[in-house]
Amino acid sequence: MKPETYYVRTFGCQMNERDSERIAALLEAMGYIPGDERADVVIVNTCSVREKPEHKVYSELGRYGGLKRRRPGMILAVAGCVAQQEGETLLKRIPHLDLVMGARAIARLPQLISAAKNGERIVATEMNGGHAAGLFGAERPAPRSPTAFVVAMTGCSSRCTYCVVPNVRGPAVSRPKNEIIEEVASLAAAGVKEVTLLGQNVNAYGLDFRNDAVCCATIKDKNDAPDFAELLELVSAVPGIERVRFTTSHPKDLSDRLIRVMAENQKVCKYLHLPIQAGADRVLERMGRGYTRAQYLDLARRLREAVPEIALSSDFIVGFPGESDEEFRDTLDVIEQVRYHQIYSFCYSERPNTSAPRDEAVEPQAKLERLHVLQAKQDQITREIMEAYVGGAQTILIEGASKTDRTRSTGRTQCNLPVHVGGIIEPGTLITVRITRALKHSLEGEHVK
Ligand code: SAH
Ligand code: SF4
Ligand code: F3S
Repeated sequence: MKPETYYVRTFGCQMNERDSERIAALLEAMGYIPGDERADVVIVNTCSVREKPEHKVYSELGRYGGLKRRRPGMILAVAGCVAQQEGETLLKRIPHLDLVMGARAIARLPQLISAAKNGERIVATEMNGGHAAGLFGAERPAPRSPTAFVVAMTGCSSRCTYCVVPNVRGPAVSRPKNEIIEEVASLAAAGVKEVTLLGQNVNAYGLDFRNDAVCCATIKDKNDAPDFAELLELVSAVPGIERVRFTTSHPKDLSDRLIRVMAENQKVCKYLHLPIQAGADRVLERMGRGYTRAQYLDLARRLREAVPEIALSSDFIVGFPGESDEEFRDTLDVIEQVRYHQIYSFCYSERPNTSAPRDEAVEPQAKLERLHVLQAKQDQITREIMEAYVGGAQTILIEGASKTDRTRSTGRTQCNLPVHVGGIIEPGTLITVRITRALKHSLEGEHVK
């Protein structure tokens, strides 16, 4: 009998990418093999952080309706953050949908798929508090890349007023350090050289556990959740690991100890994603971010002082309710002062069950204009930063063949910039290159040694 196939379509952040790998591995363990959109099991792993990605999910699901009418045996599932947010409503709205599962239900995927195959329509969105069994899992298909994502914590206990993540991912739960180290060690044994530790706010790693009232099955000893800087040291000491990255850092929780580790530990990449969101104090306050503009700028200054070659990146939301033109100019001013390598910027999007002010909405046209102005300013800065690399030497970790030219290879600098070099070089090799040319978002280089 021909093996059955699966297909996972992923929207959203790295956390979702990692969850999708885990979903794929669990399906492979059940005997499924990878397929395309016409697979026997199709899972759409979704994001609801803004309205646009959420809408994409509905159009995507509509499309699969057509496929399913032709193949009634197919199982269609929605996973991730829209699943968690909408639950039962999704099943009601989409008659051809079989399964709705939140991120905290992934460990139960085999049972859920079996039930769906028996004709049940299921919603699995319960938010088991604390360390429910299987909350974290190391399952993944055999690594084909020298880089990998490793979950350090899930959920978020910050209260940014615009954000759905705490609702759809639950409160922050740190993963026991021994589980993280074991996963990193097994990745290293499979040839992985670089890991990125993931969490919505990795700087809060361990805090939940220290303050914890929730009883947990996997952590018996409080020392099992060290602080994040210590975790970075432990991960970088795993034999075979050459580089460690992490994302995301919340400015309010970034410790001096982390700055020290970034400065002193050669394996910790000199790249930090440090979202500020907005540059005016009144907006930051209404966003519930927990820091002022001056505190953020001081943090950026201290980071640059301790780690001069550091590359910073950030997220920005423009047009938060009540943001005036002048307050928007404060945001532009932050971009000029900090000089980020790159930024991710979004128009504010009102989300269900969030506490952001509902009055003083900024007109959609004004939001878009602000977004364009912000992006144009950043494009100029990025161009200047990229140009400044030309002529210098960089160490890059080769990730594989270049996507646009298979006769070349692509690697990344510590600062997370892609560099293309001539020739086919074994993925996972660290090489030194001389930068010869700056492109918009990547560099070209010559292999020196
Ligand atoms: N935990 C991370 C990422 C959260 S989501 C962090 O704290 O930075 C990624 C980005 O989406 C956020 O940083 C923010 O810039 C953006 N975002 C979140 N909610 C949004 C909303 N309601 N409207 C527009 N952008 C939003
Ligand atoms: Fe959302 Fe704020 Fe948590 Fe990031 S830190 S996930 S923006 S609530
Ligand atoms: Fe989106 Fe969920 Fe990530 S809302 S950004 S996929 S945590």
